[in-house]
Amino acid sequence: MELYAVAVVLLALITIKFKMMMPFGYAGVVQDERKCQYFRPSRMLKIRCFDMNLKEVPQFLKSSVEILDLAFNRIKKLKHNSFERYTSIKILVLYENKIQSVEPGTFAPLTSMEEIDLSNNALVTIPLEIFQLPSLRNLYVDSNELFNLERDLQGLDTPIQAPLEYLNVADCGLESLPNLGVLPKLWQINASSNPLTELTMDTLANMCNLRTMDLTKTEINDCACQQVNRYLRYVGASAKFVPICMDILDSNVCPDPYNTTIDSVEFQSCKSEAELAKALSWRWLIIAAAAALVALVLIWYCYQRRAKKKKPRAKAKSKSKAKALPAKQQPLVSPTLALKCHNDRTTLQDCDCA
Ligand SMILES: *[C@@H]1O[C@H](CO)[C@@H](O)[C@H](O)[C@H]1NC(C)=O
Ligand SMILES: *[C@@H]1O[C@H](CO)[C@@H](O)[C@H](O)[C@H]1NC(C)=O
Repeated sequence: MELYAVAVVLLALITIKFKMMMPFGYAGVVQDERKCQYFRPSRMLKIRCFDMNLKEVPQFLKSSVEILDLAFNRIKKLKHNSFERYTSIKILVLYENKIQSVEPGTFAPLTSMEEIDLSNNALVTIPLEIFQLPSLRNLYVDSNELFNLERDLQGLDTPIQAPLEYLNVADCGLESLPNLGVLPKLWQINASSNPLTELTMDTLANMCNLRTMDLTKTEINDCACQQVNRYLRYVGASAKFVPICMDILDSNVCPDPYNTTIDSVEFQSCKSEAELAKALSWRWLIIAAAAALVALVLIWYCYQRRAKKKKPRAKAKSKSKAKALPAKQQPLVSPTLALKCHNDRTTLQDCDCA
C-alpha cells in the first residue's frame, strides 16, 4: 500500500516536471518546417513564424491572428499591404530581421495593435505613423541606428494618438531623448546605451507620470545627471537605472529642473491630460452604472406589466382603457352604468365602457 502511494507521488512529480519542460502552449501545435505554428495561449490566436528565413510577411496565415511572431527572419522591407489582412493583430513581433524601410500606410490597418517589437533591425528612423496608432501602448525599437529620428520627429503631429506606456530606444545611437510631445501615460522609458550627453528639460517635463527611466551606459554630463535625478525624485519615480552623480552642482551652474520643468507648460498639459483620461474613465463608469440602472428599471417595468397581464380579462380591458387616457381623466364607471351602457348600445359613444 505504501509502495503504491510512493509510486503515485513519483509519477505525479514526473508528469509535473515533464509539463514544465514542454514549450509554452504545446497543445495544439501544428508543425511543419515550411509552416508557421499556431497556438492559443489564453484565448488569443498566436502564430509563430520564428526563424524561417522569410523574406516577406507571409500572406497565407489565418487573418484573425492576434499575436504574430516573425522574429529571426530576413524581412528587409515592410510594404503598405503587408498587414492589410491581419487587422486583429494586438502584438507584432519583428525583432531580429533586416527591416530597413517601411512603406507609408503599412501600420495603418493595425488599429488594435497594443505592442510592436522592431528591435534589432536596420531602421534609421521610427515611421511616424506608429505614434498615431490608437491602441499602441508598448514600443520596442532598441538596437536600430536611428540617425534620422531627430530630423523626422520635427514633422510629428503632437500630441500623439498612441497611448504610449513603455518605450525602448536603447542602443539606437541617439544623442538626445526623442521628444514626442506630452506622454501622459508613459511610465517607463529605456534609453540606455546611447551617446546621450544632455537632456532637455521639456522632454523630461513631457513625461510627467514616469516610474522608471534607464539611462545606464549613456554619457550624460554632471548637470543632466543632477537634473534627471532631482526630476525623478520630484515625480516619485525610481532612480535605479540612472547614473549616480558625483558632485553636487550649484543651481547657478545647473538650474534645478523644478522651475523650468515642473512649472512648464509641457508638464502642466501632461498632468492635465492624465487627469482628463482619469476623468473620462470615471465618466464611463458613471455611464455604465446609469445604463445598468435603466436596464433594471426596464426589467422591473416589463415584469410588472406581465404580472398585470396575467390578471383577469375584465381588468386587462380597463387597463388598456386607462392606457389610452391620461391617468387623471380616467372615468369612473359604476357597475350599474356599465350595465346600462351594455344594454343600451346607442349611447355607447358617451360611455366609457366600450
Ligand atoms: C533596457 O534595454 C536594454 C536593451 O534592450 C536591456 O538590456 C535592459 O535590461 C533594459 N533596461 C531595463 C531597466 O529594463
Ligand atoms: C524655483 O521655485 C522655488 C519655489 O517654487 C523658489 O523658491 C526658487 O527660488 C526658484 N528657483 C529659481 C532658480 O527660480
